[in-house]
Amino acid sequence: MKFFVDTADVDDIRDLAATGLLDGVTTNPSLIAKSGRNILEVIEEICGLVDGPVSAEVAATDFDTMLKEGRKLAKIADNVTVKVPLTMDGLKTCHALSSEGTMVNVTLCFSANQAILAAKAGASFVSPFVGRLDDIGEDGMMLIEDIVMIYENYPDLETEVLAASIRHPQHLLAAAKAGAHVATIPPNVIRQLYSHPLTDKGLAAFMSDWAKTGQSIL
Ligand code: E4P
Repeated sequence: MKFFVDTADVDDIRDLAATGLLDGVTTNPSLIAKSGRNILEVIEEICGLVDGPVSAEVAATDFDTMLKEGRKLAKIADNVTVKVPLTMDGLKTCHALSSEGTMVNVTLCFSANQAILAAKAGASFVSPFVGRLDDIGEDGMMLIEDIVMIYENYPDLETEVLAASIRHPQHLLAAAKAGAHVATIPPNVIRQLYSHPLTDKGLAAFMSDWAKTGQSIL
């Protein structure tokens, strides 16, 4: 499973990229707004920190402007993935950009039928939003399971299921069990994945016993 980090905070991205476990980055207009940075500048900086796909989202909602914005974003770096919303114009833009060889992430996916359309439009990634479905009392993870199952019926499909709107470690675990190809995870949730109280307790005991030996490995 590939791990993307869901943020436009370059300090977090730099820190997590140093672990060697980061496969890509996703941003959205809200995350760019939160960063307080210019989108073109911050995406360029992120692309210099991470080799894998970096999603940069268009801001327009009509086909002509989305296509222009997408082409401009794609020119920033080879690893830019243009993110478009799952609307009719968004999917037209996805089809056009994918045909030009640009990676596209179709975002704001809330149904399996929408995911079928994204795959038909040639998306590199489709982003079903798990947390936001849970927020309205639906089962977000069931959507991931359905899309994975449907895509597996068509082995020629190259669209990857990118579990998005991940809010806690249990979401990640369930997405991995369902076979999502990628999860985009907020930085704090990635850091939570490392933690277990028994790891901390076990390490403290090992260090205490080691100190008693008086030895040094180096
Ligand atoms: C995905 O690409 C989105 O940026 C993100 O996962 C949305 O998460 P949220 O629902 O927690 O805002």
